[in-house]
Amino acid sequence: MQGKLILTRICGAFLLASTMQVWAHGDVTPQPIDITGLEPIKDSDTVFVDTNPYSGNEKAIEIGKHAFAQNCARCHGIDAISGGIAPDLREKLPLGAEGDEIFKERMVNGAIRNGVTYMPKFEGIVKQEGLWAIRSWLETVSVDAPAKTAAAPATTTASAASTETAAPAASTATSTTSTAATPATTTTAPAVTDPAKPATN
Ligand code: HEC
Repeated sequence: MQGKLILTRICGAFLLASTMQVWAHGDVTPQPIDITGLEPIKDSDTVFVDTNPYSGNEKAIEIGKHAFAQNCARCHGIDAISGGIAPDLREKLPLGAEGDEIFKERMVNGAIRNGVTYMPKFEGIVKQEGLWAIRSWLETVSVDAPAKTAAAPATTTASAASTETAAPAASTATSTTSTAATPATTTTAPAVTDPAKPATN
């Protein structure tokens, strides 16, 4: 019992020390990302893939949203809406391979100029799967993405409109038929009766 406690303390101290060492310049603490539910990337500890293997993956998007909040938002802004400290990633990362390349470059190298860490590197510190999950979420908030979101309601409106148009058209047709049928019969009846009367008389 006692031994376990001490061990925990030692581990804690070690973790803290190593974290501080790695992040001393960046002045940020990386948060581990729980990647449960994501298909592992082959050799993810040694090979950083070129393109996002999880693009459009619901689970990855969910994980990425949370992981971004913990690891990137302090500089790139909550929900990736930049407050000016760092580039706005909704605008700076195109969808597809071009954006993946920019993303990878930063994950691997960070942004270090003249010995100053503007952005720490994340490769080898946070699991690669988790980083691509962040990229997956970033795709959904990209300035290029809202066009898709806007297109969805447009389709709904269009189909709703056509349904509405179709409905009155049908009922108009029905009422026209019944209206036409009723007076026609009525008109026909007296017409037949009237000329018949004088004819008989
Ligand atoms: C300590 C602040 C900080 C943190 C934390 C941080 N970044 Fe950055 N990031 C920056 C800065 C500053 C730049 C611009 C670097 C430059 O000026 O060269 C940048 C640049 C980038 C770029 C390149 C944008 C472009 O215009 O080319 C990407 C992509 C990026 N960051 C992604 C991330 C992701 C994803 C995370 C979280 C895993 C993250 N960053 C965490 C500060 C940070």
